[in-house]
Amino acid sequence: MSSYPARAVVDLAAIRSNVRSLAAHAPTAQVMAVVKADAYGHGLVPSAIAAVAGGAAWLGAAQVPEALALRAAGVVGPRVLTWLYAPGAPLREAIEADVDLSVATRWALDEVVAAARAAGRTARIHLKVDTGLGRNGLNATDYAALLPDALRAEAEGAVRLVGVWSHLAFADEPGHAVVRDQAVAFAAAVQLAEDAGARLEVRHLANSAATLTNPSIHYDLVRPGLAVYGLSPVPQLGGPDDFGLVPAMTLEAPLVNVKAWPAGGGMSYAHQYVTDRDTVLGVVPVGYADGVPRHASGTQAAPGGPLLVGGRLLGVAGRVCMDQVVVDLGPGATDRAGDPVVLFGTGADGGPTAEDWARAAGTISYEIVTRIGPRVPRVHVDSNPEGEEQQ
Ligand SMILES: Cc1ncc(COP(=O)(O)O)c(C=O)c1O
Repeated sequence: MSSYPARAVVDLAAIRSNVRSLAAHAPTAQVMAVVKADAYGHGLVPSAIAAVAGGAAWLGAAQVPEALALRAAGVVGPRVLTWLYAPGAPLREAIEADVDLSVATRWALDEVVAAARAAGRTARIHLKVDTGLGRNGLNATDYAALLPDALRAEAEGAVRLVGVWSHLAFADEPGHAVVRDQAVAFAAAVQLAEDAGARLEVRHLANSAATLTNPSIHYDLVRPGLAVYGLSPVPQLGGPDDFGLVPAMTLEAPLVNVKAWPAGGGMSYAHQYVTDRDTVLGVVPVGYADGVPRHASGTQAAPGGPLLVGGRLLGVAGRVCMDQVVVDLGPGATDRAGDPVVLFGTGADGGPTAEDWARAAGTISYEIVTRIGPRVPRVHVDSNPEGEEQQ
């Protein structure tokens, strides 16, 4: 057990059950659990293993080293796709580790073909089409030009073109016109590949939001990330509960100092919060270096990020510091050093959630969980070791 006071407790049973829920939302597709960015801060390898136990046949890793780390840790059953790399990336190692590679540019195809030849193996590739996100991927002209070259490389045995894929710009607004336009552009890109003779294994477009709200674009494979960890990608439409999801991460830390604080006393840097009555001040040893957003600092008029202390929902008092936050425990509070403070968790007990912190900081829950700092130990637990959620 780590002696670091704060910890992010990750329930692997929640991850398993979330993947099962996602699979039930997309019964005609396979599930790729996206585990990039250290599994959205939840710990790459344990989270990936739990996702696979929940039924994910694929894992998605943005960066090549993330994909290689999965293989090195013995995660060899699922297919792994990686999609964001720079010229000179270790593609040969990826091919040798049986990792599928996205191809989003001409130079990427050239480097994959060279790496496959060097490895003496066929690289499995997915052509990434930019259907309107305006980010990575081939535009329609470059895609049409590259497709015959990819098929030529396939005929030569250097690559196997297994997938065509794309990513949505407005998935969290399911009715948005751009979602419809991208779906049309994606269907055309798939058609073009198939007409040119591609024998695709998987066509994939849907992230968490589209997996939960847009069955018409599930295709053969859905790629949820956020929902795997139990957070709602469309909080304006429903919380985790509404989609059969359970938040997997609880961030907690003990009180380390509890003391009387007088009326008129400021709390934390610059005294942004000044108590108007004699009260009790508590110190929680977790701050922006641990990923607690400084934008969730509080004033008396606008409480900061929520904290559950002894069953009471309180807010950060004053500025979030690098290593700590302060909480106004209230007059006569009997809390003691060592008592637990929950920053966010499942919310089931009325406690705060990552979504609540996102709202307090003016961001999205993705950022709250992925930015939990590396010095916070991830403690993996299993609330259902028998896996009874399977029944
Ligand atoms: C290409 C790609 N696919 C899928 C995902 C998963 O998205 P989400 O976490 O919204 O499900 C991401 C994450 O941003 C992504 O970049």
